[in-house]
Amino acid sequence: MTKDRITNQNTVWHDPTVLREHREALNGHRGAILWFTGLSGAGKSTIAHALEDRLHRDKIRTYVLDGDNVRRGLCKDLGFTDADRTENIRRIGEVSRLMMQAGVITLTAFISPFRSDRQIARSLVEPGDFIEIYCRAPLETCEARDPKGLYKKARAGQIPEFTGIDSPYEEPQTPEIIVDTDEQSVDECVETILKWLRQYKILT
Ligand code: PPS
Repeated sequence: MTKDRITNQNTVWHDPTVLREHREALNGHRGAILWFTGLSGAGKSTIAHALEDRLHRDKIRTYVLDGDNVRRGLCKDLGFTDADRTENIRRIGEVSRLMMQAGVITLTAFISPFRSDRQIARSLVEPGDFIEIYCRAPLETCEARDPKGLYKKARAGQIPEFTGIDSPYEEPQTPEIIVDTDEQSVDECVETILKWLRQYKILT
């Protein structure tokens, strides 16, 4: 990617000699970003990890960036205000771009509730590199699942700004893939995604 060589921070862009295409050739597959979005409890992490298992068995280089985990390190200074969520997703977008350029199929599992933030993450890479996967499930279903007991706490007023309760989730309008996690099993969701990835030549 060509960059302005000198910025107003006096940093100078260094062009690598080993390019994305070289890394992809070494890996035997292309890199991509599989961006999972959806409510808490919609199944983002579960499906991302199940898909990663499948890809890994097929000797594809992958990495899952997961909200709960990343917030213990890279984003441990961030909370859940709108501004902090925006910064969280900005960082994840940048990290995903780097990992994709390293030739890795990068799976991200973040609520990423704001359309504009997802759009910014998408805009960091070339068309076709960013695949938005909407893990769709009604709020009532997610709340009934409540795998971490967070909805119960949020309803009791113990977690402010909880997505779906008192903080918004903006549904994707044109995601590449939708999986209806209240109707499809985890395996069916994985199959739906794999089929799409093969159809659009992300996987061969
Ligand atoms: S965001 O909105 O994309 O920045 O959120 P993310 O980094 O994915 O983190 C979501 C996980 O944090 C836990 N948690 C909350 N979620 C939503 N709202 C509030 N207020 C909140 N507080 C803590 C929760 O475990 C989320 O994980 P998932 O896997 O989505 O349930």
